Amino acid sequence: MLLTISLWLFAVSPALFAPVKEPCTTGRNKLLLISFDGFRWDYDRDVDTPNLDKMAQDGVKATYVIPPYITITSPSHFTLLTGRYIENHGVIHNIWFNTTTQEKKQYYMAQFVDDYWDNGSLPIWITAQRQGLKTGSLHFPGTAATYQNERVRVREVESQFYDYTNETDWRANVDKVMGDWFKMQDLDFVSLYFGEPDQTGHKFGPDSPERRDAVMKVDRTIGYIRDTAQKHGLADRLNIIITADHGMTTVLRGTGIKQIILSQIPGFSFRDIKFQLLDYGPNGMLLPKDGMLEKVYSVLKGAHPNLHVYKKEDMPARLHYSNHPRILPLVLYADPGYVISGLLPVQTNKGEHGFDNQALDMKAFFRAVGPDFHKDRVVGPFETVNVYPLMCHLLGIKPEVNDGSLDNTRHLLVSGGQQCDSKEPDQMSIVIGLGAVAGFLVVVFIIVSSYNIFKRNRTNTRNDLKAEYEDKIDSKQTIM
Ligand SMILES: *[C@@H]1O[C@H](CO)[C@@H](O)[C@H](O)[C@H]1NC(C)=O
Ligand SMILES: *[C@@H]1O[C@H](CO)[C@@H](O)[C@H](O)[C@H]1NC(C)=O
Ligand SMILES: *[C@@H]1O[C@H](CO)[C@@H](O)[C@H](O)[C@H]1NC(C)=O
Ligand SMILES: [Zn+2]
Repeated sequence: MLLTISLWLFAVSPALFAPVKEPCTTGRNKLLLISFDGFRWDYDRDVDTPNLDKMAQDGVKATYVIPPYITITSPSHFTLLTGRYIENHGVIHNIWFNTTTQEKKQYYMAQFVDDYWDNGSLPIWITAQRQGLKTGSLHFPGTAATYQNERVRVREVESQFYDYTNETDWRANVDKVMGDWFKMQDLDFVSLYFGEPDQTGHKFGPDSPERRDAVMKVDRTIGYIRDTAQKHGLADRLNIIITADHGMTTVLRGTGIKQIILSQIPGFSFRDIKFQLLDYGPNGMLLPKDGMLEKVYSVLKGAHPNLHVYKKEDMPARLHYSNHPRILPLVLYADPGYVISGLLPVQTNKGEHGFDNQALDMKAFFRAVGPDFHKDRVVGPFETVNVYPLMCHLLGIKPEVNDGSLDNTRHLLVSGGQQCDSKEPDQMSIVIGLGAVAGFLVVVFIIVSSYNIFKRNRTNTRNDLKAEYEDKIDSKQTIM
């Protein structure tokens, strides 16, 4: 009798305890967030990419991810770092501007305007640092700025005329992040930025052989990143997320293409405009002079079949690009393939981004690999506001208010998004349930054992088995 019950107990108990042993996110693994600027979601379709393919086998691949509107570099990267839509984090353009002084700062110089970046949303570095983690950032947009008097502690900001395309430099940067930062300095989180294939996509267009070469270069680098992690013994405690800020689409030119040149629109006059942000690809913003808003709006609205013109407050809500004082009263954007010019068609790029984030060509790629991610799993699209809560979960830190949700990415994780020390009700009920089952089994066990002891007086067996059983209960409690 005793033997039967014992065997039964040991046979059944693993199944009963299985939910407890289900993996949870420890929050102890390191995390590397990598952005390859302008890596469109489908760039691996016409190029041989053995390292990206291997990474997909070993990890998670999203069909694509949806960047926020406006689909340009600084705003979209800051969404990755904060989980906020652009109207909420305030980095509304690559260009910093002052409508009073007419001053503009281009992408690089705008990196150093602290109060442009520090507009109420904290990037993940600062939040992680405040919760005791060590963070670093290399070339990632937003790295140079100070947030509420705090900066990412370990950082490297590129020089003004940095060559973003040099593969030798890329490898040196990878060596620095893996060897110096993760291994030697034991950082917990690093963001790492590469300026390609964006630059090549702009210059030669997304369908060019040059762009395909740039993708091969990215692929080699991804192989190098994973090899370097392995070499430093980091691979099994490092999660790696690789994504991008936006895609790229071909700029249409030639006969039959009616260009969007505002000065050629009947009734439009720059004399009615106090400040303009034009000639930056497919996007524009205008501040009309006092009393001129309605006139400028009615002149531009419907003036070109591929030009969208909105009063700021009428911007489609799905774009989340309306509710911020920096957004100017008139917002313009063009359909994919078109760019907006002020006086003359000065833009010579063959590829552009910045378009509606619904356009398929604006979607970005997303891959992840590491101990907390599923293997060989393809997942559907999600918005990049959700990367931030995912990263906070992986790092075991409490996120700031944000526009994303772990619910949109928990299926990427082995744990399903369950934190190991979580006190969430559903996990508590598992604990209580298992506790009750275990308690019941102990009672049954003791009764049966006592009965057998009484009958056969075999105390030794009883004590051994009981001790062993209590060990199991102890170890279960430790896991929780
Ligand atoms: C723009 O410049 C004016 C005049 O110098 C200044 O008062 C204002 O604060 C500036 N605005 C921004 C956003 O820097
Ligand atoms: C964000 O910037 C806007 C405009 O530049 C300013 O009015 C606002 O006070 C800033 N908010 C915070 C929290 O810094
Ligand atoms: C790339 O960078 C390396 C080291 O920084 C330098 O020696 C090399 O000349 C650069 N290559 C090009 C093509 O600029
Ligand atoms: Zn970009």
